[in-house]
Amino acid sequence: DEGVVRRDRFSGGPARSFLSSLAADERIFEADLEVDRAHTVMLAEQGIVEDDVAGQVLTALDAIEVDGHGSLPDGEDVHEAIETAVIERIGAEGGKMHTARSRNDEVAACIRYRLREDVLEAVETTLALRESLVAVAEAHTETIMPGYTHLQPAQPTTVAHWALAYEGAVGRDTARLLEAYDRINESPLGGAAFAGTTFDIDRERTAELLGFDGVVENSMDASSSRDFLLEVTQALSTHATTLSGLAEDVVIFANRGFVDLSDDYSSTSSIMPQKKNPDTLELVRAVAGDAAGGVQGLTTTLKGLPRAYNRDLQRATTYAWETVDAVTEASEVAAGAVATADWNEETLAAEAGEGFSTATGVADLLAANGLPFRTAHEMVAHAAENSAERSSADSHVAKPRDNGADYDALEAAAREVLGEPLESLVDPDAVEEALDPAASVASRDSQGGPA
Ligand code: ARG
Repeated sequence: DEGVVRRDRFSGGPARSFLSSLAADERIFEADLEVDRAHTVMLAEQGIVEDDVAGQVLTALDAIEVDGHGSLPDGEDVHEAIETAVIERIGAEGGKMHTARSRNDEVAACIRYRLREDVLEAVETTLALRESLVAVAEAHTETIMPGYTHLQPAQPTTVAHWALAYEGAVGRDTARLLEAYDRINESPLGGAAFAGTTFDIDRERTAELLGFDGVVENSMDASSSRDFLLEVTQALSTHATTLSGLAEDVVIFANRGFVDLSDDYSSTSSIMPQKKNPDTLELVRAVAGDAAGGVQGLTTTLKGLPRAYNRDLQRATTYAWETVDAVTEASEVAAGAVATADWNEETLAAEAGEGFSTATGVADLLAANGLPFRTAHEMVAHAAENSAERSSADSHVAKPRDNGADYDALEAAAREVLGEPLESLVDPDAVEEALDPAASVASRDSQGGPA
């Protein structure tokens, strides 16, 4: 029976399903057909396989593609199953397809071929996210908002400044993915099991047919290395970490009423009828955990593997697929949530001065008028402390968000700390202006600042 390939001695026992990657290999079904085609064409061009046999193999591969992965015969993996299907269709001659190669270089070529597509899709989602962030920035160059460090009110900024901060980070994520892409985009095909082949193959030709930029030179390196998987999974994990910060910010802003997510990106409660929850962004935030787990799983699987090929590599690939899928989806959702959210300009403006967030500007003003910055810092800190005490004395609940430190508090601090009235140091109108959040933002026009 020509349909029965030579592996009858092996892999038929109770461990068969444990060994098999056939189901998971659906992901590389198309890639394997392309790799088979390129290899077959090269074998014919090199005179290693007769043209008519190569033609029959190519015809069989087309038919197998039409039937789909689900129609493949049983096999240890997609490579074996496709070969079996070719032999079933055209007879034993179909076995010539596997001349001068191994499943080791074959699978590495398939992974790289498919991963290129996935990475380009991930790159595109980062570009869409950047476009969303730039659109938010364009619409909100004048929308002032509170800025935070340690999640405490720090200095007023703008929504545009916030959005472009993430755009910059996502831009680096894009660059990291593209760099990983370049190292994925090299052909391992022709490495064979690891040790090359006696046949006069043309590795550059299969690389060219498959659209790779070049070859992974050393055949042992070609068939067994997976650092390209690690590099791209790490780059995706870095992007997921950026996304998690963005998501967390928006969750906090939604809590404060600064931003309203569109209904499309919100969820509700099965019991509390009034609820509108930022679930999509919470899930985006959580994907950073999946991605970090992917990096960890992959690193641990690859760690200490000897050269050359080891079957552990079959399980390594899954981490990269899962990570690229999860992070690409999270990036897409983040882009959509950002693009469709409404920023509440009035609330943002009302809160922009919270917690005496213009204090640094007042200290800067005093310093610009000749007071050593450290002395100015001390004086304004004194004013902040006084006004914080005053506002908590007004209520039994501490109100750290009060815009407490007004001109009077500064005046009192000037007298207490410096022994002079404030107007002997600085023009009172300039102080009032420094206390205004919008003016504070407008005055910070250093390179990359919110103005
Ligand atoms: N399915 C395997 C993988 O994904 C490739 C097969 C190599 N098998 C082997 N026994 N050398 O890595």
